[in-house]
Amino acid sequence: MRTYLVTGGAGFIGSNYIHYMFNKYNNDIRIINVDVLTYAGNLENLKDIENRDNYTFIKADITDKDAIEKIFAENDIDRVVHFAAESHVDRSIKNPEVFVNTNVLGTAVMLNCAKAAWELEDGTFKPDKKFLHVSTDEVYGSLPDDPNAYFYETSPIDPHSPYSASKASSDMLVKAYMDTYKFPANITNCSNNYGPYQFPEKLIPLIINNALQGKKLPVYGDGKNVRDWLYVMDHAKAIDMVQEKGKLFERYNVGGHNEKQNIEIIEIILDTLCEMLPDEDPRKAHINKELITYVTDRKGHDRRYAIAPDKIKADLGWEPETMFKEGIKLTIKWFFENEEWMKNVTSGDYQKYYAEMYK
Ligand code: NAD
Ligand code: TYD
Repeated sequence: MRTYLVTGGAGFIGSNYIHYMFNKYNNDIRIINVDVLTYAGNLENLKDIENRDNYTFIKADITDKDAIEKIFAENDIDRVVHFAAESHVDRSIKNPEVFVNTNVLGTAVMLNCAKAAWELEDGTFKPDKKFLHVSTDEVYGSLPDDPNAYFYETSPIDPHSPYSASKASSDMLVKAYMDTYKFPANITNCSNNYGPYQFPEKLIPLIINNALQGKKLPVYGDGKNVRDWLYVMDHAKAIDMVQEKGKLFERYNVGGHNEKQNIEIIEIILDTLCEMLPDEDPRKAHINKELITYVTDRKGHDRRYAIAPDKIKADLGWEPETMFKEGIKLTIKWFFENEEWMKNVTSGDYQKYYAEMYK
């Protein structure tokens, strides 16, 4: 049975990926989820699978070399899927150091421990061992408002925020391991994800949550920055396909071909909420465009991201399957059905962050 070591599996994409993998492979794989449970890590995301015999959670920090070494020593790991990171741009602007620590140093520790566990005496690697580094399109910087401009795998790395700079650095480390040691790895650079279990500091869950509570909807700058939104399960599928069918040492861009201005996203969410809420629901009365509030722009705000997923489509046959209209309904439905989840993650520390951020 193949053993996966998933880092950051209690976060948004990691937990969706674990659900995807158990749905697809059921008892044919074993998953070890290593997560230190920062504010963004939530074991509630995995409560329906936590009792499986083929699932183990280990609370550990990826920067803790001894802890990670021990996990490799005690388990014959076949696949690493490395999600663990600090992931929010606004937090990186306030406190860059933690991003360097987790995203750069943490990735170095993961690479080094995997290399030590998998390397043979002659410097080659045990067969069928693979490391997948989950990265972002933000490493490519910002595109102009030209609908023909896209990020390709060959686009220059040109990060602007401390978050994207730390992710670009971690990508470079993975590349260095591939180039220097022929370390068996791939890198994926994905566009903005949305879907269940996303922490409400990111645009889509924040807008859903605020609108339902009749709170203001903060729009940075002119609201015309463009992001390319991908339903999280399509990303999970892409990761699995890259690891199964991708060519080792290659980088794959993963994107939704779903570019939208932030203001368009907000308007779609408001319309969809009104469409989905029954007339007798009291929340419906306060959901309207007057909640939209333009606020000071994010420092260094990237204007536009847009992925050309040509390579992953041509080489692996991956394509985004969930249209935004459908994906946003699935997401809103999930939030309707999981109000407790939202209450729990927005209590405590997050309240302090929100008050500070939007004061
Ligand atoms: P997230 O913030 O929701 O989850 C990150 C997880 O990593 C959390 O469970 C957290 O507890 C864990 N973690 C953080 N520091 C850790 C440490 N030092 N040791 C162990 N665990 C630690 O992030 P996400 O949105 O799920 O993103 C996952 C990955 O995908 C990240 O690498 C991110 O850069 C990348 N990515 C995200 C998006 C997106 O739209 N969210 C898009 C492309 C790529
Ligand atoms: P975000 O979800 O933080 O993702 P990223 O910065 O990684 O793309 O933000 C998506 C877009 O929405 C980005 O252009 C910033 C903007 N935004 C707002 O306008 N208001 C908000 O409250 C947030 C969180 C984001």
